[in-house]
Amino acid sequence: MADAITIHEQGGPEVMRYEEVSVGAPGPGEVRLRQTCIGLNYIDVYQRAGVYKFDLPACIGMEAAGVVEAVGDGVEVVKVGDRVGYVMGAPGAYATERIYPAERLIPLPDDIGDEQAAGSMLKGLTVSYLLRRTFPVQAGQTVLLHAAAGGVGTIACQWLKRLGATVIGTVGSDEKAEIARAHGCDHPIVYTREDFRARVMEITGGEGVPVVYDGVGAAVFEGSLGALARFGTLVHFGAASGPAPAVDPKLLAPKALYFTRPGLAPHTATRELTLDIADALFQKIREGVKIEINQSYDLKDAAEAHRALEARETTGSTIFRV
Ligand SMILES: NC(=O)c1ccc[n+]([C@@H]2O[C@H](COP(=O)([O-])OP(=O)(O)OC[C@H]3O[C@@H](n4cnc5c(N)ncnc54)[C@H](OP(=O)(O)O)[C@@H]3O)[C@@H](O)[C@H]2O)c1
Repeated sequence: MADAITIHEQGGPEVMRYEEVSVGAPGPGEVRLRQTCIGLNYIDVYQRAGVYKFDLPACIGMEAAGVVEAVGDGVEVVKVGDRVGYVMGAPGAYATERIYPAERLIPLPDDIGDEQAAGSMLKGLTVSYLLRRTFPVQAGQTVLLHAAAGGVGTIACQWLKRLGATVIGTVGSDEKAEIARAHGCDHPIVYTREDFRARVMEITGGEGVPVVYDGVGAAVFEGSLGALARFGTLVHFGAASGPAPAVDPKLLAPKALYFTRPGLAPHTATRELTLDIADALFQKIREGVKIEINQSYDLKDAAEAHRALEARETTGSTIFRV
């Protein structure tokens, strides 16, 4: 038996229940994990709230670190006792133990701690694919990053600086502006009181930016398109304020813009794809990118953590201790 956060219906944070669930033995190609640390992500909110539909009751959550406790038939990529992390696959990370497909596991190097891993598998792998595959940033480019003091944001700011980019970052408060700045954001913009599009144009001498990395969605869609330079790319990778509207091609035409909506599922569809972005993340951590665990909760207090994330009260990464 394991302790887990399950939902029997989708809705507000109050639908999350802390209860005992049976785990069982791993089937062919699977492992049983004893989880040591679990990451909180915005996708957990979408799962709980009903943005994504799946069979209920279910355990939610998409990233954790832990130890392999048992392996099923045919598992060759890991063995009992290995430290591993994972991201995506079927929901179910909010648990002390779980069954998980071995092929999706990411072996954790000795110099990557469990908290670092749980705080960065989903957010850091996202930054890894966004900056290396979706729009590979070149030294000297100026980019716009929304929610720059958040989980994805603080990792992205540090990584972008190491690529030699100038980072313009939007944030919801002065306190967050300082956090973004401390992580390499050259020009924090408090977009709750400033017109970020106008500020981007001012900073770039009227040119606009070649790329906007947008995990905020609805609230910034129009301004993001307006902040792009000719042939620029809007990378809409999240919807913390609600999904972006359906894109009218006519909006893209005047500056011949590109719009993409990438996700971690395709970017971790094969072991090779996953390990490539994981290796790049581990390398960046070794080079000094910090995974800031600014909030931690007991797993049973998951509702409190969700409320804080949705109220824009968190910065950096949030983890659950098991
Ligand atoms: N596609 C992918 O592969 C992928 C993977 C990981 C994450 N994501 C997305 O990336 C985004 C960031 O994820 P995260 O886990 O690192 O979260 P986070 O950035 O730590 O938290 C979300 C932030 O969004 C900002 N925000 C703006 N409007 C908001 C609103 N109406 N309600 C709530 N927050 C609002 C807030 O920062 P300010 O107060 O500074 O505005 C808030 O702190 C999310 O949209 C997530 O879904 C996508």
